[in-house]
Amino acid sequence: MGSRDIAVLVVGLVVLFLISIGNVNGYPMEDLVVNLPGQPKVDFRQFAGYIDVDIKTGKSLFYYYVEAQGDASKKPLTLWLNGGPGCSSMGGGAFTELGPFFPRGDGRALRRNPKSWNKASNLLFVESPAGVGWSYSNTTSDYTTGDAATARDMHLFLMGWFEKFPELKSRDLYLTGESYAGHYIPQLANALLDHNKYSSDFKFNIKGLAIGNPLLNLDKDVPATYEYFWSHGMISDEVGLTIMNECSFDDYTFDSPHNVSKSCISAIGEANAIVGNYIDNYDVILDVCYPSLVEQELRLRKMATKISVGVDVCMSYERRYYFNLPEVQHALHANRTGLNYSWSMCSSILNYSDTDGNIDILPILKRIIQHHIPVWIFSGDQDSVVPLLGSRTLVRKLAQDLNFKITLPYSAWFHKKQVGGWVTEYGNLLTFATVRGASHMVPYAQPSRALHLFSSFVSGRSLPVSEPSDD
Ligand SMILES: *[C@@H]1O[C@H](CO)[C@@H](O)[C@H](O)[C@H]1NC(C)=O
Ligand SMILES: *[C@@H]1O[C@H](CO)[C@@H](O)[C@H](O)[C@H]1NC(C)=O
Ligand SMILES: *[C@@H]1O[C@H](CO)[C@@H](O)[C@H](O)[C@H]1NC(C)=O
Ligand SMILES: *[C@@H]1O[C@H](CO)[C@@H](O)[C@H](O)[C@H]1NC(C)=O
Ligand SMILES: *[C@@H]1O[C@H](CO)[C@@H](O)[C@H](O)[C@H]1NC(C)=O
Repeated sequence: MGSRDIAVLVVGLVVLFLISIGNVNGYPMEDLVVNLPGQPKVDFRQFAGYIDVDIKTGKSLFYYYVEAQGDASKKPLTLWLNGGPGCSSMGGGAFTELGPFFPRGDGRALRRNPKSWNKASNLLFVESPAGVGWSYSNTTSDYTTGDAATARDMHLFLMGWFEKFPELKSRDLYLTGESYAGHYIPQLANALLDHNKYSSDFKFNIKGLAIGNPLLNLDKDVPATYEYFWSHGMISDEVGLTIMNECSFDDYTFDSPHNVSKSCISAIGEANAIVGNYIDNYDVILDVCYPSLVEQELRLRKMATKISVGVDVCMSYERRYYFNLPEVQHALHANRTGLNYSWSMCSSILNYSDTDGNIDILPILKRIIQHHIPVWIFSGDQDSVVPLLGSRTLVRKLAQDLNFKITLPYSAWFHKKQVGGWVTEYGNLLTFATVRGASHMVPYAQPSRALHLFSSFVSGRSLPVSEPSDD
């Protein structure tokens, strides 16, 4: 081999090397998160960065992608969205519910979440819409938005994201979330199905939807809150009966005063006062974290951790502290434009349509199921905000509308020889499952049961309903 050949070889290798640091196996290495401050060592990779969804107005969505633990290339891809509208999937799903790390008690470092959902799937978290977390727009009018624009932007986001991660384009795709994601996820799936219908090229490989404590239909979800208060002894019998007899929640809307009597309005006011401010409406069993105390303790560098029934109820304060550390934002490639407000769990700059909350999601779910895509609605049974009482009825109505028969009668499901909750299935495609002892944020309050449910969902298995044996 002459020296010219060697030179060519060296140049060739350098070129190869440069290509590979830009994009190894179809992964954008500029988005690789090398190490988060205070992060325990792990053997899976993390990526974070931005996808522009509107070049003209300068709108860009932030994502955080965590590879699965072990065999990442064989595991599916799951998108998770938190709700609000306007709340952060980073602060919610990724770092306090189902991601691989939780903030440590002093807000300065991370600890492992032993029940992370990345045991079963690769996980993608997106701050959606622009104005949430580190997603932004250079044009403030973009912050006036609603369901349709949010779904459109998420569709564009996914197109752009798959350009960065081409290897994942054909991977089985699961769409998941909680709360107001009961609006986001079905409307996104609907947009992706439209895409698939008209695209002769790339199609989204949607394999299932799972949504926890989802807002689906205000007419049913709102009265369920008062029924929940009543059935859990949080209001008196008198007030409960007044609400049930005097209030009509049909055609309920968030924005305009609905057609209710004076006695109904006063009973609702009374109910809210009796429930009081010292209860976490998202989990009526857990103790609450007193913010003033935590803020002080975080400043004094003490551990703020307050444990109630095994759950750190102060995690929301620790996470806000952690995400506002400049070195954390730098490691995540976040806030690259120096946004002039601090990171918060739920956006204060977003002007989200309050009429879109009234959209009935059932017809959209119906279309999705008619495409033979399995839908799971799961429900933490300690949540009074979107309680199981509404979701269970809505799922049954949806099943009726689809002419589905019960394919799994309502039964207890088991995990670790205990009842994990109750489950029923319709038409082998529509599942309703409760998670016993779980809050609105199911994976936060019941990590092990939640992981079991999620693993079953992504592997196409029903929840196990046979009674545990003694061995
Ligand atoms: C927004 O503006 C900043 C500052 O001019 C710029 O660096 C950034 O690229 C813009 N974002 C988008 C998505 O165009
Ligand atoms: C409100 O309810 C009353 C009594 O049920 C009914 O007569 C009236 O038509 C309703 N108004 C609207 C705007 O629906
Ligand atoms: C932050 O920046 C936006 C434009 O990017 C501007 O409209 C707003 O007034 C600024 N807010 C503060 C508090 O400076
Ligand atoms: C973005 O960075 C600036 C400092 O450059 C900081 O003041 C601001 O709080 C950060 N905003 C967010 C949303 O993280
Ligand atoms: C918020 O949205 C409403 C309805 O689209 C609009 O009338 C209002 O001007 C917006 N407010 C701000 C501060 O942009």
